[in-house]
Amino acid sequence: MEKLASRCVMESRLLKRHARYFVALSSSSSLQQQQQQIRAYNSHYTLVSGDDFRTQQELERTTTTTSSLPEAPGLKEAEEVGRSPSETSKYWGVVGKTYTKEDGSTWSWKCFKPSDTYQSDMNIDLKKHHKPENFSDSFAYWTVKSLRIPTDLFFRKRYGCRAMMLETVAAVPGMVGGMLLHCQSIRRFQHSGGWIKALLEEAENERMHLMTFMEVSNPKWYERALVFTVQGIFFNAYFLLYVISPRLAHRITGYLEEEAIYSYTSFLAEIDNGHIPNGPAPAIAIDYWRLPKDATIRDVVMVVRADEAHHRDVNHFAADIHKQGKELHEAPAPVGYH
Ligand SMILES: [Fe+2]
Ligand SMILES: [Fe+2]
Repeated sequence: MEKLASRCVMESRLLKRHARYFVALSSSSSLQQQQQQIRAYNSHYTLVSGDDFRTQQELERTTTTTSSLPEAPGLKEAEEVGRSPSETSKYWGVVGKTYTKEDGSTWSWKCFKPSDTYQSDMNIDLKKHHKPENFSDSFAYWTVKSLRIPTDLFFRKRYGCRAMMLETVAAVPGMVGGMLLHCQSIRRFQHSGGWIKALLEEAENERMHLMTFMEVSNPKWYERALVFTVQGIFFNAYFLLYVISPRLAHRITGYLEEEAIYSYTSFLAEIDNGHIPNGPAPAIAIDYWRLPKDATIRDVVMVVRADEAHHRDVNHFAADIHKQGKELHEAPAPVGYH
């Protein structure tokens, strides 16, 4: 029975391969081209037994991996069965680059390159606040303030866990905004003025905050379930809001960032009064923010808080552009703004 099943799988692969070949053959433009392809096909496959055709390579490797017909257009395929990741990489010619650090040691991160790292601007004003100027601003402000009540009740003083969980939400607005501006740009045949990149950079920066705090806090199963639920609701709600009113969406994000600054300031106070141990900084944070090797969690919270202040300014700036009746691409985009 097992033998029959494996035979069926093999047969279907062969049929697929031959079918693709004949589709390509029928689409060839000239008789000469067709003859060339038939010759290529015959020389490429060998009759093993019955109607089982195998390539010479296949016979040598005695593997079920399907080979391609290099001469026939559109026949290249990536069948993963039987191939190791390094073989697949070699097959497609997609080879990851290796980097070295300034001290000559090997760069160990695959998720970001040395050129993605930066030193935070610690001189940014942490107290800047946008005073609500109209109903829309007040709505944004009080929406964010009211969201803080359940957050405070749930996390209390567990700032490590709180930071990690809130970063899962904070990484959404930039991605949604960037995605919608991308769609708008291609729909309207219009430049984005760099705002797509700027918002996607913000999303990536927030995701790196999460990757950092994951190293110091391990979410429990019910916290993971909460993240799953909140993401489902928040992503869709923010998407709809951005479609209806990008100004309100950016204003809400601006106020969320103000709250993030407040949370990280409380986190620092807890470290300073000894309630939270000030352990060594995770390696990913040392490399991403170019921190000294002996950096601590406190140093990490400081740079993350500075990032949040930059996000606050970017989002309030975006909301102000819309408030002036303009589109984002009409104002300078904060690309690479940290
Ligand atoms: Fe963040
Ligand atoms: Fe942020």
